[in-house]
Amino acid sequence: MSTAWKRRAGLAAAGALLLGAAFLGGCGASPSDAAGEKVSVTMAPEALRQIVAADNEHGRTVMWQAETEEAASVEYREEGGGAIREAPAKSQRLAGTQGEPDRYIYEARLTDLEPGGAYEYRTRAGDRVSPWHPLSADDGGPFTALVFPDTQSQDYGVWESIAEAGKKQAPDAEFFINMGDLVDNGQDENQWQAWLGAAEGLFETIPAAPLMGNHEAYSLDWQTARPDRYLAQFALPENGDPSMPELFWSFDWGPVHFAVLNTQMAEISEWYPDLLSRQQAWLEQDLTGTDKPWKVVLMHKDPLQYRIASRPERKEGFSEEGEAFMPIFDRTGVDAVLSAHLHTYRDRGHIYDFRRDERGPLYILTGVAGDVRYPNLWTDHALDVTVAPQPETDNFMTMEADSHTLTFRAWLPDGTMLDEVTLTK
Ligand SMILES: [Fe+2]
Repeated sequence: MSTAWKRRAGLAAAGALLLGAAFLGGCGASPSDAAGEKVSVTMAPEALRQIVAADNEHGRTVMWQAETEEAASVEYREEGGGAIREAPAKSQRLAGTQGEPDRYIYEARLTDLEPGGAYEYRTRAGDRVSPWHPLSADDGGPFTALVFPDTQSQDYGVWESIAEAGKKQAPDAEFFINMGDLVDNGQDENQWQAWLGAAEGLFETIPAAPLMGNHEAYSLDWQTARPDRYLAQFALPENGDPSMPELFWSFDWGPVHFAVLNTQMAEISEWYPDLLSRQQAWLEQDLTGTDKPWKVVLMHKDPLQYRIASRPERKEGFSEEGEAFMPIFDRTGVDAVLSAHLHTYRDRGHIYDFRRDERGPLYILTGVAGDVRYPNLWTDHALDVTVAPQPETDNFMTMEADSHTLTFRAWLPDGTMLDEVTLTK
């Protein structure tokens, strides 16, 4: 893992987020044959990462960070050799906070991959290049993915160890999902560096689908904040509403269409007042527009509402987010809904029209993958089918999909399986 964040700990907080975008390099990917070209393998991009594209049979986004700005690109070729293609990188300045320096965040969007293609990629600036790293395009067929619930932590070593446990459990995972609340404070760059460093072993080789949670929308003094730092760290699919780019989006992998919601209406409506109405309209269109056999929704806040023993006014039922979105899931035939935010693992079975009904989606609350735990906080819900043993430790999930089956498994870091559910059609 990177130790850059550790080296930089302890300095004073600095400055507001400053974003200055600039296009560097040429326009569009261009084939070239670099045989015989002299390059120096001395480029060491920090926090090198792959992010899912909307269409992962043809697309992938590669990102990294550096303390200097320079014209840069991503080069890629078929695994083992062949013609090198190049995608220009865009950079934006991200002001440091909590002792972290200002950095430039680079992103290059690859758009011309072949389905199922095995590639390798490297970063390039002038005649300096990084080593090659593997990159595989979705082949449209069966896949395994990893799902990590909230990773917000005091010590991101927990996230690093559960990422490693996930990789060990599912070495053939083709991508991973983070369910939001990636960090405890979304404006704390020191936490972001810790988070990125902990994910390094996964991030370079398989892409992430990172959701936004409410903690990505807090300021350093714990007020609400525009989630600009999260949005800078991840160049996400741009297929949501163009008036609020990358706040909600969707992507396909194999036989599954994933719709990624933004549940932060309470935190960011100051900046995006029509976030809910625009998202509802987009979601209905997005879910009816796909021809994939499976439809899965990913949302940070849970659609169910749980009682808390110390707050008798809080009733069992459904959250505002559930009331806003569940009728759309019912109308559009969503198969499964994964959520997070409550730091507990629960399988609630199928729910339709706000009651137990096999016609509706399977609702899974994915658990916790950081060190912030809420032991015995939530009272059981009448719709709970499986609840992880209490008090809970960290966990992760795997998801296996083919055209006819969709299997979710919840795992403890030591490889003990907590739960298993399979949908068939
Ligand atoms: Fe949360």
